[in-house]
Amino acid sequence: MSDTAGKPITCKAAVAWEAGKPVSLETIEVAPPKKGEVRVKVNFTGICHTDMYTLSGSDPEGAFPAVLGHEGAGVVESVGEGVTDVKEGDHVILLYTAECRQCKFCKSGKTNLCGAVRATQGKGVMPDGTKRFTCNGKELYHFMGTSTFSQYTVVSQYSLVAIDKSCPLDKACLLGCGVTTGFGAATITNKIEEGANVAVFGIGCVGLAVIDGASFNKAGRIIAIDINDGKEQWAKKFGATEFINPSKLPEGKSIVDHLIDITDGGLDYTFDCTGNTKVMRSALESAHKGWGEATVIGVAAAGEEISFRPFQVVTGRVLRGSAFGGVKGRTQLPGMVDLYQKGEFKIDEYITHTTTLDEINKGVDHTKSGNCIRCVVSMD
Ligand SMILES: NC(=O)c1ccc[n+]([C@@H]2O[C@H](COP(=O)([O-])OP(=O)(O)OC[C@H]3O[C@@H](n4cnc5c(N)ncnc54)[C@H](O)[C@@H]3O)[C@@H](O)[C@H]2O)c1
Ligand SMILES: [Zn+2]
Ligand SMILES: [Zn+2]
Repeated sequence: MSDTAGKPITCKAAVAWEAGKPVSLETIEVAPPKKGEVRVKVNFTGICHTDMYTLSGSDPEGAFPAVLGHEGAGVVESVGEGVTDVKEGDHVILLYTAECRQCKFCKSGKTNLCGAVRATQGKGVMPDGTKRFTCNGKELYHFMGTSTFSQYTVVSQYSLVAIDKSCPLDKACLLGCGVTTGFGAATITNKIEEGANVAVFGIGCVGLAVIDGASFNKAGRIIAIDINDGKEQWAKKFGATEFINPSKLPEGKSIVDHLIDITDGGLDYTFDCTGNTKVMRSALESAHKGWGEATVIGVAAAGEEISFRPFQVVTGRVLRGSAFGGVKGRTQLPGMVDLYQKGEFKIDEYITHTTTLDEINKGVDHTKSGNCIRCVVSMD
């Protein structure tokens, strides 16, 4: 047993004291894991746009002060009572989409959503309703059940998965959100068939991962769409066959009309990876009549609604969504790690920037800039 087991750990963390302000580096105390919980030393974390969204104050669930971050990988430091699936020293990826294997969602065989920790996770507390982080005597909220912007974090035993130790943690962390979300949306939520035509709206980490997943499944045309021309070379590097900047179409021509023209009636699969509700509508309308399937991955701002004519779905188009790529974290991520290790899909290529916990605000600035796909933060 580690000599810190059962005792509080003092470490550094990036604390979000309030919405709209930079995170600040603080010394915090992390309580030992209680029953059914695990304390993890976080080695690396990615910064995802959902962290930025919550930090900006737009997230109705966001509670402050908090330790944000949900794209992390590290090593189990100690486990609480009753935890049998992971042990001290295991290398792990943290899961904001938990998997308990006991709730009605997990047992349904129809979804990767899990109800076990969802209610408390949304409130920023552990399943027993309490918190494990304090800073100068003040309690800090947890975030997405993971809180990876801390050198140590405490999570539910359902919110992490052990992976092969040979997989580098500075890459594995990206499987905690963006890469898995896009790759899974193309290969699990939708099982894109060989030769199928695909359009991907929004070429960030998530859109690129959809493209990689579509290539993995041997899609036919993979049309990448982004208002930033700089994304063309990225999309093509990941397997897109074409790139369109919708803001540069001839006057009066919509992206939907253009896509329908160039594909003889529309796409087999479309994906929104922007979070813009107008783009979601375009994704549905550019899906082929009779069978085209549009998947919403992007997270829209609170209160936004999508509108479309019902005839679009009456005539056979399907609109669906995908969370964490439909991937059941504890069951399926170890297999994704194997696939990555065999070189079957990309992770390293997304990392455009790296930084340290001390300079995490630089990472936040990178993430907000248009030329960053992913910034990985070293927590040591
Ligand atoms: N469903 C999930 O489980 C899940 C998981 C992770 C992220 N997300 C969401 O997915 C989305 C994408 O995440 P990301 O990290 O790739 O973001 P990102 O900001 O890196 O990429 C978004 C891209 O969309 C482009 N874009 C913006 N408006 C556009 C428009 N009108 N038409 C075409 N392109 C447009 C931007 O130029 C950018 O390249 C975000 O909304 C994020 O919150 C969802
Ligand atoms: Zn994310
Ligand atoms: Zn469950």
